[in-house]
Amino acid sequence: MNHKQAAGEKAAGEVNSGMKVGLGTGSTVYYTILELGRRVKEEGLEIIGVPTSEATDKLARELGIPLGELSELEPLDLTIDGADEVNGTLDLIKGGGGAHFREKMVAAASRRLVIVADESKVVPELGPFRLPVEVVPYGWKSTRKRVEETGCSAVRRERGG
Ligand code: A5P
Repeated sequence: MNHKQAAGEKAAGEVNSGMKVGLGTGSTVYYTILELGRRVKEEGLEIIGVPTSEATDKLARELGIPLGELSELEPLDLTIDGADEVNGTLDLIKGGGGAHFREKMVAAASRRLVIVADESKVVPELGPFRLPVEVVPYGWKSTRKRVEETGCSAVRRERGG
C-alpha cells in the first residue's frame, strides 16, 4: 500500500455513523471515499455525504454512499479533503484538482475540516505548486489581468484541452 492510500484510508477512521460528511476531491481522498464505501457496504456505516465535485459525486454514487444537498444538510459534522502543499505550520495550498470553489463552500459549512496529505505534499515554503485561483468563465481574461496586476504571473489551468 502506498503512503497516499494509507493516509486516505486512515482519514476515513474519523467518520462515525450518523455523520453528515463533506467528501473532498482528489487522488488522496479517493481512498478515503473507497474506504467509506466499503464500510457502508460491509459494516452498515450510516452517513450522508456532500460531494465537492462531479468526480466525487460519481464515485460516491457508484459505491452506494448516500448523498444530499449542502443547503439541506448544513452544518456538516466533518469534511475530509486533500491538499496540494503543506508547510511546517500547516498552512495549505488547495484547489489544484479544480474543485476549489465547491471545496471552500463545503468546508465553510462544516464543523470540522480534516485535511489528509502524505509526505509528498510537505514543503518548507508554500509556492512550488503554484496557487490555484478559481474564477468564473465570464471575463476571465479581465480577471487574469487583475491577478497579474498584483505582481503574479497567471497560467490558465487546462485539462484535456
Ligand atoms: C482539489 O481541488 C484539491 O484541493 C485536492 O484536494 C488537492 O488538489 C489534492 O489532490 P490530490 O490528493 O490528488 O493530490
